[in-house]
Amino acid sequence: MTKVLMVCLGNICRSPLAEGILQTKVDPQKILVDSAGTGGYHIGSQPDQRSIAVARKYGLDISHQRCRKFDTQDFADFDIIYVMDKSNYEHVIAKSRNQSEQMKVKLLLSELNSNLQEVPDPYYGGEDGFESVFHLIDNACEIIAQKLNAK
Ligand code: 4NP
Repeated sequence: MTKVLMVCLGNICRSPLAEGILQTKVDPQKILVDSAGTGGYHIGSQPDQRSIAVARKYGLDISHQRCRKFDTQDFADFDIIYVMDKSNYEHVIAKSRNQSEQMKVKLLLSELNSNLQEVPDPYYGGEDGFESVFHLIDNACEIIAQKLNAK
C-alpha cells in the first residue's frame, strides 16, 4: 500500500480537492489518499462550499471529508506528502526530524512540466479561483496517478 497525503493551509479548499481527485484515479486497494492542513482553524469542518461545488461540477463528491491538522505522526504514516505551496512546504519541513522525512515532502506541481510551482490559495477569491485550482490539481494528479499505477 502506498500512502499519499495532500497538504495545504486550511485543509478546506485545495487539499480536499487533491485528496478526492487523486482517489478517483488510483486503485484504492493499492493507494490510500488523505489530506491535512498546516493550520488548525477549521478542524472537524467540511470542505469549503466552493470546493464542494466545483468538485460536484466534475462528478466528484468530497462533502464527506473533514478537516484535520497535519501532525508529525504523518511522516511515519505516509510515503509521499504533497504540499500545495511553498509556505506549506516550509511548515511541513519545519516539523520534520530527519532527512528521510524531508525527502517525502514535494510540491504538488513539481509533477507538472510547468513554470507554475504553487497551487494558489483560492480562499479569499471568487469562484473562478476554485475552477482554475481544480484543473491545476487535476493535471498534477493525472501524472501522479500514472506513476503510482505503474508501480
Ligand atoms: P486552503 O485554503 O489552504 O486551500 O484550505 C485556506 C482555507 C482557509 C484559510 C486559509 C486558506 N484560513 O485562513 O482560514
